[in-house]
Amino acid sequence: MSYLQRLNTFIQEKLSTRVNDRIAKLEEILNSMALDYTSLDAARIFNGQTVRRAIVDRIISTFPFDVCVETGTFLGFTTSYLARHFPRVYSVELNPLYSNVARKNLQVFANVEIINDDSVAALKALLPEIGDRSCFVYLDAHWEDHLPLAEELELLSAVEHAIIVIDDFQNKADSGYSYDNYGKGKALDYATFSPVFRKLKYAVFEPNVAAVSETGYKRGYVICTTHQQSGDTLQRFPQLARVAVA
Ligand SMILES: C[S@@+](CC[C@H](N)C(=O)[O-])C[C@H]1O[C@@H](n2cnc3c(N)ncnc32)[C@H](O)[C@@H]1O
Repeated sequence: MSYLQRLNTFIQEKLSTRVNDRIAKLEEILNSMALDYTSLDAARIFNGQTVRRAIVDRIISTFPFDVCVETGTFLGFTTSYLARHFPRVYSVELNPLYSNVARKNLQVFANVEIINDDSVAALKALLPEIGDRSCFVYLDAHWEDHLPLAEELELLSAVEHAIIVIDDFQNKADSGYSYDNYGKGKALDYATFSPVFRKLKYAVFEPNVAAVSETGYKRGYVICTTHQQSGDTLQRFPQLARVAVA
């Protein structure tokens, strides 16, 4: 179980069944979580993974993105980083409790919109807005029962220039990176998703930096794109390795 899942469990456990108790507990929890979003909180952004952050920094400085979409805001840790690097950020969160907290905590960023919705519904609504603009996407809305990843990838394959980072995904070469696995057909692994990548013509890359050299929670991730030229450029990044999904 990842750090954020444990934090979610902690919050849910803190909520008692009685409504008044729930509200009081919630206020207590939120107050205890007062976060300083005016400074970057390196321990939480991208699961505290500094190598991943350096790779994303490089992607951002290489490609001129117009817009950023994150699915799975949670409390807005990574959103605070995205807010500082993109002119416009849309972050989608299913749980109204979390989207309210994130909205409140990120209100210093005028360029961020927190959308309380299911990621697939929100992406459908955002696609016309994205249009032909170049888009950085962080897919992180996968918690247990429902994995929207295949549908998210299908929708995003219609965006001409998108570079997508998928959190919690298997690293084929290094089992030191952990990833989400909720059982058969519900794992963020190549056995489940290679057919999806292949069908939608995504070029897929994973970090070729050993997990032992990574900091934080060492969660696996992949970076993918259907944009040929961007794929060619990513292929030249020394920290990335192209993964065969054929
Ligand atoms: C791992 S957390 C996201 C962490 C966050 N991106 C960060 O880096 O701090 C996953 C979040 O996705 C949300 N979520 C789960 N399913 C979703 C869905 N279908 N649409 C939108 N959000 C979803 C959960 O409520 C949870 O807050």
